[in-house]
Amino acid sequence: MKRLAFLTSGGDAPGMNAAVRSILRSAASRGIETWGVFRGYEGLLAGDMIRLGWKDAGGIVHHGGTVLKTARSPAFREKEAQERAAALLREREIDGLVVIGGDGSMAGAAALEALGVATAVVPATIDNDMCGTEETIGYDTAVNTVLEAISRIRDTAASHDRAAVVEVMGRHAGHIALAAGLAGGAEITLVPEVPFSRENIADALLAMQKEGRTNSIIVCAEGAASGAELADWLKKATGIDVCATILGYIQRGGAPTARDALLGAILGAAAVDGLADGRRGFLAGCRNSRVRIISYDDAFKEKREFYTNGWELALRIGAGPRYRMK
Ligand code: ADP
Ligand code: F6P
Repeated sequence: MKRLAFLTSGGDAPGMNAAVRSILRSAASRGIETWGVFRGYEGLLAGDMIRLGWKDAGGIVHHGGTVLKTARSPAFREKEAQERAAALLREREIDGLVVIGGDGSMAGAAALEALGVATAVVPATIDNDMCGTEETIGYDTAVNTVLEAISRIRDTAASHDRAAVVEVMGRHAGHIALAAGLAGGAEITLVPEVPFSRENIADALLAMQKEGRTNSIIVCAEGAASGAELADWLKKATGIDVCATILGYIQRGGAPTARDALLGAILGAAAVDGLADGRRGFLAGCRNSRVRIISYDDAFKEKREFYTNGWELALRIGAGPRYRMK
């Protein structure tokens, strides 16, 4: 492998720059020339790439976001666009492409692989919903951002005897909500993976109020419900003052935690070394705190499990039997 390109794709995630740094420095250590592609597949289609080297990795590791910028590219879902991208990489004599992104970005990399481009994926999305890896870069930082917000919200909710609904990201998955709800001491955690009824939440709030718990925290995954609508409904149903906070995009920014910076460093290097050693079409994921190299085909066959035991524990040490399931 003489020349390697890499890009960041999909939702940005804290730690992507740690992966960028590791790719640049790992490739340099093996004498591989590196090209950074701007704005994900959109930039690839436009040939928007520049030569980057060892020194360009300096001063970025601790910054959230991605120095290569990222994008979502509906156009790239089309075969014709994927063929144009593959042809462009061949014309530029690029021997391999590393894609830093989530499940969708991995589908894009698999499409390029099928067209003869040697590719590898570094898992990066705050949602932590990727098949084939236990953890994705950005997830730990996002959970810690939510924890900080819950702590601040709990202060003011306690001062006003208010219940608080905190809506978090995760698209169709509840991993961020569960981790933050369990670690943050939420009384109730709502996730798309576990059915719930608003009536049971209302009953639980009233029961907890009777016991003097006047500032319950409800963490709500965006894929489960709208936090604002839920808070309004609960106010009307219970007469309890309920405030809603939609955390939104602060969950996508911020300096990466050590965990995410470590994941970026280790998985970025694993992607480069795999390609340089002749592997292709793989996800450089992790399992049991070890690097796990898995083909796209095998990764897509795996189901991303939800931590149901964790959800049950969150309820058990949260609202407990006051929140009836069905
Ligand atoms: P993430 O990678 O974070 O899951 P998206 O799901 O938005 O983010 O995917 C990022 C980009 O990957 C999309 O904008 C699109 O360009 C490309 N992509 C997603 N799914 C596919 C697919 N099935 N085939 C080809 N490209 C895809
Ligand atoms: O996939 C990461 C994510 O932050 C999701 O949790 C969220 O629903 C989505 O991206 C928001 O997408 P966009 O940044 O395109 O608005």
